[in-house]
Amino acid sequence: MKDLNKIYNENSIDGMNQMERNSVDLTVTSPPYDNLRSYKDGVGDGWNFDTFKSIANGLYDVTKDGGVVVWVVGDAVVKGGETGSSFKQALYFIELGFQLIDTFIYEKNGSSFPSRRDGNRYSQIFEYMFVFSKNKKPNTYKIENKQILKDSNIVIINDLFSDKKLIQDLVDTWGSEKEDKNFIDLNNGFNQKDIKDFKDVEFIYKEYIPTSRFDMKDLKNEINIYKKLINKGSVISFKINEQDLMKDSYNGIPFKIALEYINNGFLLHDTMLIKEGDGYSFLFIFSYKSKPLNSTLIVDKPNRWAGHTTFGKGKARNKDGTLVDRAIKPVPDFSPRNNIWEYKKTNSKNIWKFLNGKNYSTKDNEAFEHPAIFPERLSEDCILIWSKEGDTVLDPFMGSGTTAKMSILNNRNYIGFELSSEYIEIAEKRLKKYIK
Ligand SMILES: C[S@@+](CC[C@H](N)C(=O)[O-])C[C@H]1O[C@@H](n2cnc3c(N)ncnc32)[C@H](O)[C@@H]1O
Repeated sequence: MKDLNKIYNENSIDGMNQMERNSVDLTVTSPPYDNLRSYKDGVGDGWNFDTFKSIANGLYDVTKDGGVVVWVVGDAVVKGGETGSSFKQALYFIELGFQLIDTFIYEKNGSSFPSRRDGNRYSQIFEYMFVFSKNKKPNTYKIENKQILKDSNIVIINDLFSDKKLIQDLVDTWGSEKEDKNFIDLNNGFNQKDIKDFKDVEFIYKEYIPTSRFDMKDLKNEINIYKKLINKGSVISFKINEQDLMKDSYNGIPFKIALEYINNGFLLHDTMLIKEGDGYSFLFIFSYKSKPLNSTLIVDKPNRWAGHTTFGKGKARNKDGTLVDRAIKPVPDFSPRNNIWEYKKTNSKNIWKFLNGKNYSTKDNEAFEHPAIFPERLSEDCILIWSKEGDTVLDPFMGSGTTAKMSILNNRNYIGFELSSEYIEIAEKRLKKYIK
């Protein structure tokens, strides 16, 4: 039998064999993709469809009835064609008796292998997230009140699945450095009455729909509730849906809302525009009673003249007014963004966008010594939706320990397997910071 809250340095086929049958509530994992990456210790060399089948059989045995497996996977391109391995694997899970309850798309912000100008395939920027349940409909959970109340540093948003990338960009800029932020979705199990119990809210994101039914009295009440939740320097941002702005008469509602916040002690720190498709929305950033406590500008606007220095010599003036030469630094690769942010418009609930790559997938630098980590938020969203506190979460391909970390932070038990001892070391170093 295997203990919980441990990552075993062994093949998960053997590992799962020694686990109790029907004991796992949720698996969040991504296997090696068609040998696309070369892992440490020659791992992946033995990856083929038979190995996959043994893993899938193991998962079926250890998963509880109603338990869920989230399988994040993509195909390699071999001789100009996609291998279809992802589809073959999905069909094999079904053959085993799992039900395929959802096929989500995990959209990345960039491609690992961008297409060349003279290439003949577009860059691949998504992977599949197949969601399977065993024998019956899965248990799905709303994010629990209990868990949120005992933590501080709360981020409230009003739709966890809309504009995910925008929300992440906002939180990255105006949220604190704290790792264990809670994202609360008021459309997902909470209502306005519940929020009075929240504490130390550091950031609120809200979308307004300026219909003719919009009532300033409701807004005043809402602002009063927010004022009780937040501290000096907390940030509230609100976006007004662009479709409504495009209507003939929107009666300046965004401006009325903005002014109401100003009249209530908020500083209008920024007025930004969000472009989605052909339209735009206003995004107002307010901080309460003072400048925002946190502002870390996102530096990702590419500079056309990166690496160049201007001609001539730079001059600076001494205190006494004399001119002196000053070294001119070359233009950096990236500068902070301006205040128009552009996003692709999507209304789809089954595309989950996550920023990936250094500093985005996780802030734990050591994790990037692993070549193929998935974003913490991907793992966390699955954990919050398909498991509850105290449940057991498995990752048979633990890599840098992402699923274990998010299980710890959300009070779930984890168990995992990883063939490479080097990756185990990375995961252990990473998890040490979070084990309570
Ligand atoms: C795609 S990576 C997983 C990365 C992980 N999701 C993360 O965020 O760090 C797949 C991992 O599975 C490991 N692996 C491959 N075959 C395995 C097996 N049969 N048993 C255990 N681990 C295996 C590889 O060493 C690699 O680290």
